[in-house]
Amino acid sequence: AITRHYKFNIVMKNVTRLCHTKSMVTVNGKFPGPRIVAREGDRVVIKVVNHVPNNISIHWHGIRQLQSGWADGPAYITQCPIQTNGSFVYNFTIPGQRGTLFWHAHISWIRATVYGPIIILPKRNASYPFPKPHKEVPIIFGEWFNADPEAVIAQALQSGGPPNVSDAYTFNGLPGPLYNCSAPNDTYQLKVRPGKTYLLRLINAALNDELFFAIANHSLTVVDVDAVYVKPFTTDLIVIAPGQTSNVLLNTKQGPHNSSYLMAVSPYFTGQGAIDNTTAAAILEYISSPTSSASSNSSSLPKNLTLLLPSLPAINATSAVTNFTGRLRSLATPQFPANVPQTIQKRFFFTVGLGSSPCPKNQTCQGPNGTKFAASVNNISFAMPSTALLQSHFLGKSNGIYTTDFPSNPLVPFNYTGTPPNNTFVMNGTKVVVLQYNTSVELVMQDTSIITTESHPLHLHGFNFFVVGQGFGNFDPNNDPKNFNLVDPVERNTIGVPSGGWVAIRFLADNPGVWFMHCHFEVHTSWGLKMAWIVRDGKLPSQKLPPPPSDLPQC
Ligand code: C2O
Repeated sequence: AITRHYKFNIVMKNVTRLCHTKSMVTVNGKFPGPRIVAREGDRVVIKVVNHVPNNISIHWHGIRQLQSGWADGPAYITQCPIQTNGSFVYNFTIPGQRGTLFWHAHISWIRATVYGPIIILPKRNASYPFPKPHKEVPIIFGEWFNADPEAVIAQALQSGGPPNVSDAYTFNGLPGPLYNCSAPNDTYQLKVRPGKTYLLRLINAALNDELFFAIANHSLTVVDVDAVYVKPFTTDLIVIAPGQTSNVLLNTKQGPHNSSYLMAVSPYFTGQGAIDNTTAAAILEYISSPTSSASSNSSSLPKNLTLLLPSLPAINATSAVTNFTGRLRSLATPQFPANVPQTIQKRFFFTVGLGSSPCPKNQTCQGPNGTKFAASVNNISFAMPSTALLQSHFLGKSNGIYTTDFPSNPLVPFNYTGTPPNNTFVMNGTKVVVLQYNTSVELVMQDTSIITTESHPLHLHGFNFFVVGQGFGNFDPNNDPKNFNLVDPVERNTIGVPSGGWVAIRFLADNPGVWFMHCHFEVHTSWGLKMAWIVRDGKLPSQKLPPPPSDLPQC
């Protein structure tokens, strides 16, 4: 294992998409940002220097951060933000993870433009548990706003209504040919040779949308999700929620072959609000001879742009989502075991969903029935603290920062999918759940339909978890656990709580620190669909959170 050094300069940069130029926050002037490439077991050291007016922090999404919680990155959870002209060195190792993850800003909506791939290769001389690909290609999906995303969320929080939706989806930052006013170099092109295997490293970095992805006339084989190998399966359709990543194999057609095909993404959404219901496309271009490769450049699209679009499901096609997620299984081999906690010490039941909060006097609010949109876990809408929770926890100074009375939800027979209650109000608080070191946890998350029924991609920092069960309607504590998969459930860091349904996960709390958990729809996080776990130190030195680095930003 080696140490890899990176320097992230946060700078403003003019970027043009959809014929619209804006000055936006970037890393090193790049959009999407630079790739982090490391092997399993390597140490990664990234110096982040903030040259923009905004406060910044960077999260290494999905990295376990075992005993390195100070490097996790969510603002006001593990660190205070890096202020203008400030800097912070993130320093962590990558043990036991292989595949694709991503990094993104973790403060307000800055991640709309500040994100990039994390590519984790197997150890030197270790091989993939699938055929060695000819080439590996990261494809990071995002959302493009013509407006400043910070202004979009500020306006929404002010009015209490929903935020304006994005103007396009993107492949590696490019919206593609299906949008009005799309310049030729606004299209991502993947050039491939016939008869080869490509490893596509897919990342959904969109702010607010689950996505369907497909390539016309090609199937894909899923081999990895969230940097954990899965039992390979072949599919025409990929479903990927924001915060999720997946490695898929693409076998190109036998040559000589000269055609091009479209790849496309479109949203999955079951809620009632407005959504960016557009399709972004990119081009899969076959190159038969080295000469044709040399003569094509990225600003000239192939002539035959009567390209076939892949067929994508309807926007609300929940069955397509369930079919896809139902096929995901851990590889669960002796070399790559699925260490599912078999006995559980702590069980939790969390309701997740939208709600509202009262409209201040003398104001008009654009949320449900003249209130303000809010969102909650167990009816607590998480209020961001004024200083970082991890620091307060480490110093033993929680007073005025957070409380440990996160409500437990007795499994009362409440019909979460029935008629909404009259009172949709949530309570505000900075409440956490405290776990002893090495507690085995089972958590059932139930979507409430209080304002609208929609799926919530919940992301847990600091851990991978096993998805042992899921279903629609109300979770039944007497019967549903009988069907849990404790053998080869998929292991990941972000899971969609199904629209009008529930999901059950298990994890071992073997990582001391403060760990954020939130909906990876950024607007739901802004509305309060977030909470934090505190995992106490264990007895051995190797089970304790080390002291903070000396350059940790202060609030
Ligand atoms: Cu990718 Cu807390 O986020």
